[in-house]
Order: sequence, then C-alpha cells, then structure tokens
Amino acid sequence: MRKLSFKLGLLFFVFVLGIETVLFASLYVTLVNARINEEFEQLLARGNNHRDVLEKSYHPSTLEHVVMMESEAETDVVITDAKGKILYFSDHILPFAKKLIPSVDVRHIPHSGMVVQNNWKKESYIATASPIRMDGKTRGYVYMFQRTASIQNMIDKLKHHFLVVGILSVFLTIMTIAFLSRVITIPLIRMKQATEKLSKGDFSVRLQVKGEDELAQLGKAIQTLARDLEYLKKERNEFLASISHELRTPLTYVKGYADIARRPTIEEEERAKYLSIIYEEAEHMQKLVKDLFELAKMDQHSFQIQKEPTPLCLFLKKIYEKMYPAFQTKNMSLVYRCEENITVHIDQQRFEQVMMNLLDNALKYSHQGSTVSIDVRMEKKNVMIMISDEGIGIPEADLPYVFERFYRVDKSRSRTGGGTGLGLSIAKEIVEAHGGSISATSQFGKGTNMIITLPRGDDDVYDFIG
Ligand SMILES: Nc1ncnc2c1ncn2[C@@H]1O[C@H](COP(=O)(O)OP(=O)(O)OP(=O)(O)O)[C@@H](O)[C@H]1O
Ligand SMILES: [Mg+2]
Repeated sequence: MRKLSFKLGLLFFVFVLGIETVLFASLYVTLVNARINEEFEQLLARGNNHRDVLEKSYHPSTLEHVVMMESEAETDVVITDAKGKILYFSDHILPFAKKLIPSVDVRHIPHSGMVVQNNWKKESYIATASPIRMDGKTRGYVYMFQRTASIQNMIDKLKHHFLVVGILSVFLTIMTIAFLSRVITIPLIRMKQATEKLSKGDFSVRLQVKGEDELAQLGKAIQTLARDLEYLKKERNEFLASISHELRTPLTYVKGYADIARRPTIEEEERAKYLSIIYEEAEHMQKLVKDLFELAKMDQHSFQIQKEPTPLCLFLKKIYEKMYPAFQTKNMSLVYRCEENITVHIDQQRFEQVMMNLLDNALKYSHQGSTVSIDVRMEKKNVMIMISDEGIGIPEADLPYVFERFYRVDKSRSRTGGGTGLGLSIAKEIVEAHGGSISATSQFGKGTNMIITLPRGDDDVYDFIG
C-alpha cells in the first residue's frame, strides 16, 4: 500500500511537473519578449521625437541642444547627414557608431524609423534610426543608442525570480501530492488491513466511512461483509451444535436398546419390542438427515424450483385426499374449502411438501375429535392459503421463532410423535423461493392458523381485468 501511494504520487508529480515546466517556460519567453520590445519601442520613440524637433527647426543650435539632452540621459544620439557622415554625437558613442552606421542600408528606413541593431545578447548597444525629411528630401538621420548591459541585467533578474518561484512551486507540488496521495491511500490501507483481519477469521472489523464516494461505498461493503461472515459463522456453529444434539439423542436410544436386545437371556417378545424402538429411531434419524440435506441444498442455491401453472383447488384436493386417512385414524376431521378457479405458479412437488409439513403439524399438535381446515382466499395481488387447527396452539413467546431451524415449543422431544423442528423452516424456504411468505397466528390452548401468501400469476391478473 505504501507502494501504491508512492506510485500514485510519482505519477502525479511527473505530470504536474511537466505541465508546470511548459507553463513557466512559455511565461518566461513571453515576458522577456514583451520587455525587450518595450525597450526598442521606447528608444525608437525617443529618436522620432528628436527627429520631429529637428524637422521643425534644422539649426545648429537645435542640433546641439538635442545632443546635450542625450548626454544627460542613459541613451546616446548620433546625427548624420544624408550620406551618413557623422555631424553630431553624444559622449562615448563614437567608436560604436563609426562601426555600425556604414553598414546600415539607409534606403529601407521608413519615415517612422526602424531598429538597426537588435542583437541585445551579443552587442553592447542596441540602435534605431529615424530619417529627417524636409521638403520631400532626406536631410539626415537621427541614430539612437542604448546600452544592452541594462537589458541583460533586467533579464538576469527575471531569470533569478523565475528560478526562485520555480523551485518553490516544485517544492509545494511535492508537498501537496504527498499529502493527497496519503489522503487517498489511507482508507485503502485501512480496508486492506480489515480484509486481512477478516481472512484470519477476526470479524470485529470496524471501518470509519465518511461520505458517499466509491471509497466510502467500498468501506461499507467490507463492513457488511464482515457482519455477514460473523453471522454466518455463528449460525453455522449453532446449526452444527443442533445437529449433533439431534443425532445424539436417538443414537443413545439405539445404542442402549441394541445392547439390551443382543443379550441371549432376553425373552423373544421383549427383543421384538426393543427392535421396533430401534427401527423407529432409525426412521427418525433418516427423516432428520433427509430434511438436513434438503436445507443444505437450499442454502447452496443449487435448489431450483420449477414453477408451472397449477389449478390451485385441484392441487389442494389431491393433498386433501392423501392426508385424509391419517386424520381419520386420529378421529379428526379435515375440511377443505376452495371454490374459485385460481391458477398459481408453483413447483408442485415442493409445494406439496409445504402443505404436508403444515398438515402434519396440525395433525400432530391437535387433540382427537378436533377439526383442521384448509381455506383459500383471493386478494388483489395475492392468493392466501390458510390451514387452521383447533389444537394446542403456540404460546405467544414462542410464536416468532417457530420458523427457525430446530425450534420446538416443547424442548423435551417426546420420542413418539415429536419432530425435529425442521418442518416449518423447510416450508418457509420453499414458500419464499416462490416469491411468497408464510406466517402464523395462534392462541395458546385454542388453535393455530398458518397462512401462506403467494403472488398471483400474471394470467390471473388478466383474468381479473377481463
Ligand atoms: N399447528 C401447530 N400447533 C401447535 N404448535 C405447532 C404447530 N405447528 C408447529 N408448532 C410448533 O412449532 C414447532 C416447530 O414446528 P416444525 O414443523 O418446524 O417442527 P416439528 O413439527 O417439531 O418437527 P418436524 O416438522 O421437523 O418433524 C413445533 O415443534 C411445535 O412446537
Ligand atoms: Mg412439523
């Protein structure tokens, strides 16, 4: 992660430095050019001024006056006649002027004047020339000179400023980037540490997530993952504990009775009794293992339901006929009311299992002589199937938990008739896989209602509209 912040920082730095260099260089060039142009323009304007004065009065006194003015200033002047012969000049400038003036091609100089020496880098002076014209004839030229040392000095100062500002901005860039890349990578480093903790099985991961950006979302996702993993681990432990507990009880019976049954001294009649208990327990364990397998399949999502349009009443009637004998044996009655012609989309085999589990409960937890009924009711968007009994009911405190795995109201599993507590949780999984829901209402001692709500198939809605 340190590497990431370094990489990110370096990348930013290279880009920003590139951009800064280009900007600084172009700013420098523009500034220098502007300053130098200004110098040239000023010099030319000064020359043109003198020329204008001279055009108005071309007298030796005026000429001397001009030369005298320039002796005081930083610039120098040379005045020539039309042929280029030097007539007047201010201090020191004679040697340079003598070298320059013969090389100037005066024919190309316009009346507004022009720069005749612009090499400020190598020469010691820059120079301009302005022609003096009177009555349409050129009478001479005003040459102006300025030392380049002052210009070079100015450029040096500028360079120095640029260097200082440049170093400062590179330093600031490094600081800013170092800070920013830390700010970006710190949450990533924390998340990496969190996931490492997770993979080691430590689920106590708490990340501080601020804001709504992608990093915050990632942080939230990791936290949710930690919570889910923690929950799954807890659930798995509980589940395994329940399973081993559920298997231990019948196995103890089987082992104990088998031990008695194998004694040679035992009566044949008694042996048969013990064997039948062993058989019952084995059957019980078989059911438990089957149910567990069922649940495991659902957990893996490998469990698929194959929905097909099913006429509900016909489907329920078949189940009613299947279960009716069991109810008769216990001297109970089973009624079923379904009048409307409803089609539902269900996996028939799975849904039959749901109905069997619920009816099995109604039968198991009811007294002799009571009635169990199956009712179907239509709602705007749903179909409700209700199984009501007049049995022992479920205490209010237990009602919220009956759909949990291995949950039983009567914790001491009486060997005869007592279930494993998986029936309702299987029913719930199946109903939910159908997009429906299941709920229970009960009055302790009076009876229980189990209500399945299923979404109506599309064709039903068309039926409804039609
Ligand atoms: N109709 C009912 N009347 C009274 N109690 C019920 C009824 N249905 C369920 N219960 C209570 O809810 C518990 C959970 O039911 P569930 O069907 O999941 O398990 P089970 O019947 O004990 O075992 P299994 O169905 O796996 O053989 C039952 O043990 C019982 O205490
Ligand atoms: Mg049951």
